[in-house]
Amino acid sequence: MDISISEEIDQEFLEYVGGILEDSEFLKLGRYKQHQFTTRLMHSINVSYISWTIARKFGCDAKTAARAGLLHDFCVYDFRDEVPTGEMQAFYHPKVAAQASKERFEVSDKEENAIRAHMFPLGPLPKSKEAWIISCADKICACTEACHLAIALARRNRIMVSAA
Ligand SMILES: [Fe+2]
Ligand SMILES: [Fe+2]
Repeated sequence: MDISISEEIDQEFLEYVGGILEDSEFLKLGRYKQHQFTTRLMHSINVSYISWTIARKFGCDAKTAARAGLLHDFCVYDFRDEVPTGEMQAFYHPKVAAQASKERFEVSDKEENAIRAHMFPLGPLPKSKEAWIISCADKICACTEACHLAIALARRNRIMVSAA
């Protein structure tokens, strides 16, 4: 999976998420369709960017918003697969994403809660402003993507992902 990033994108945002975006395991998210018209990788980038933008505007922790936003769906499997615990995927996948993020990247407790709580009200309560921002950004992106509208960094192809 190759990723090309436009020079227009703010360096601060890239400093926070650059390491994750270069990770081969994380880039596997480009294999999975999300919300019918995009990939889980592009969706995650958009949630991250919108969360970072909102957090910065309101004086919140923009780094946590960007990183946890990017990792919120870090699940390297098809969501149509059977869930081993028998739970609904909506409750199961945030736990997988949190565990995978802990194993692969150094995530703080605050980032972990934001990942686990992103499906609220399905699942745990967001415990920080940044977790609330990510949960809202996820829903905004999901609705927009399902309507086949380019949002955030998918607009004007500011981030493009292609098979290597
Ligand atoms: Fe999710
Ligand atoms: Fe999501």
